[in-house]
Amino acid sequence: MINISEIALLEYKAPGSFEETRYEKLHNVIVDSSSQGSLKIAHTIARLIIEKHDQDQMCVLGLATGSSPLSVYRELVRLHKEEGLSFENVITFNLDEYFPLSKEDVQSYHYFMHSNLFDHVDIKAENINIPDGEVSIQEVRNTCIAYEKKIDQLGGIDLQILGIGRTGHIGFNEPGSHLNSQTRTITLDHLTRFDAAPAFQGIENVPRKAVTMGIQTILNAKRILLMAWGSYKAEIIQKAIEGGVSAMIPTTYLQHHKNTTLILDSEAASELTRIKTPWLVSTCDWNEVNRSKAIAWLCETTGKSILKLTDEDYNQHGMSDLLALHGSAYDLNIEMFNRLQRSITGWPGGKPNADDQYRPERANPHPKRVIIFSPHPDDDVISMGGTFDRLVSQGHEVHVVYQTSGNIAVSDQDALKYLEVTSDLIEEKSNPQLEMLKKAFLETNPNHPAHRSICDLKGSIRKRESLGATRYFAIPDKQVHFMNLPFYETGMIAKNPISQKDIDLTVAMIEKIKPHQIYAAGDLADPHGTHRVCLDIIFAALKTLKPKPYMKDCWVWLYRGAWHEWDIHEIEMAVPMSPDQVLRKRKAIFYHQSQKDGVMFQGNDHREFWVRAEERNAASAKKYQAMGLAEYAAIEAFKRYFF
Ligand code: F6R
Repeated sequence: MINISEIALLEYKAPGSFEETRYEKLHNVIVDSSSQGSLKIAHTIARLIIEKHDQDQMCVLGLATGSSPLSVYRELVRLHKEEGLSFENVITFNLDEYFPLSKEDVQSYHYFMHSNLFDHVDIKAENINIPDGEVSIQEVRNTCIAYEKKIDQLGGIDLQILGIGRTGHIGFNEPGSHLNSQTRTITLDHLTRFDAAPAFQGIENVPRKAVTMGIQTILNAKRILLMAWGSYKAEIIQKAIEGGVSAMIPTTYLQHHKNTTLILDSEAASELTRIKTPWLVSTCDWNEVNRSKAIAWLCETTGKSILKLTDEDYNQHGMSDLLALHGSAYDLNIEMFNRLQRSITGWPGGKPNADDQYRPERANPHPKRVIIFSPHPDDDVISMGGTFDRLVSQGHEVHVVYQTSGNIAVSDQDALKYLEVTSDLIEEKSNPQLEMLKKAFLETNPNHPAHRSICDLKGSIRKRESLGATRYFAIPDKQVHFMNLPFYETGMIAKNPISQKDIDLTVAMIEKIKPHQIYAAGDLADPHGTHRVCLDIIFAALKTLKPKPYMKDCWVWLYRGAWHEWDIHEIEMAVPMSPDQVLRKRKAIFYHQSQKDGVMFQGNDHREFWVRAEERNAASAKKYQAMGLAEYAAIEAFKRYFF
């Protein structure tokens, strides 16, 4: 029989019953990681299916699509395959479907649900219900009414799972949706279409409408679990939990439902008052992290530098108990000032023959063997180009390891250009390989994985661009490694799950170089994005390698990818850059030509990568300055990871 007892399941507790939930109007559970949260959700669903089965009843589930529930479905499939969980007594109703869109389209939610769940479990085909995106505009209303009726006739939804969009939508109930709304068509917001654009290969291909269950349909469910992963969702989660009920943030309607639990990873919860400024909510544990966090916040709130903060500032901002513990603002200010001052170093690999007691890195050994892991071929220079440059010029043996090929981010037009240049140069006009590539381009279909030969051509373009940048920073080609991790090589946006092969390749690379320093992209913004997957692979490799004696001498530093920077209190090494170094970094980024002037996967930020990098590094320098430290042109920031 399936074993689900070890994982604490998700039980509802009314918000307001605990001191720390002040400001909160929705019950929420914060978990360490999205994988842990997904296990809890999957096992809560499994428990309900079993309970219903034991009572000879059908279990009616409301299901969501999108990136958030992927790991939930993966675990449900595992429970079915390995632990005998049966879906024979399950009836499902999906929240929504794009309209119009064919069921066969890889972007349809029909396709999503079958490929991620239904095709791998024993659910009966007649028990699957998904809104119809194929019916005519004249018929769609009737199918919506029939959908509602069917849910009603089955006694309503027992358990509804939800994700949340950045507009605050649940299902596709965009801002303005009415509390009493039922299954219907809806016009999608621009932000929702923008977020879906990469999957559809451009916003112009994203359908403008969808069919969605209404707010009322969702609120009629007996139990609701909403999940949100990653800092990308932090802002909307804060509004949904702490704001008043508003049609402009439809998730707030869940405040009317008395059996809803939100499951958040720590990044998605990071904007909640009890997490961001716990001293404003209840008694705070004044450990070093909370002290630094509070003082950085106090500087920002009062607009003062650290050494100008007074007892009164602390008292007026909910920090009188901190003051009581430490005696005076003076001591607290000095402690924080020294901490920040000591994080600054122009010697990221350690300064040889110097006293390193208060430096972020050890002086010895010198020189060091260094690995810079870069998820895509360009994150190394975008995120830490200045530090990379310094490490090389200070004599360290720097290896760059590109984890994925980054091939899907090269446009067809760019790839075709290189193909045609090659074709112009070679004598033999009917070279079979070139012909095959040209044919593959003609057969390209955005709904199918790209042809292997096209992926290879695109991967090669990114490889050559990377070598341009690493040669500019003067490292020999033999210190540049391209792992082409298999999880990435699907030829599509959707990637494979991590496999042992990804981890083994990474273990072998670390073992070969035996580094004293590892830099990795600690990008937690999107738990399903490539950066996060690449980080999880490195973490798994480090775990495997931990017992090796040489790993005792290896320090790991995390940089942030193109989107966010570490908060000031998290920074443990700050590497300043002069204006000239900023220009060198810019030039290195420019070698990645295929990612310039209209990148394919820009995320929710329209600036080019080099602009983002420069603005971010300048902003970090400004923050240090505002807190009373020296004025630099730019700063790259790192946080140490202990394994
Ligand atoms: C999907 C759905 C949407 C998503 C939301 C979040 O069926 O109804 O509300 O849950 O857009 O999407 P992800 O999880 O991709 O961030």
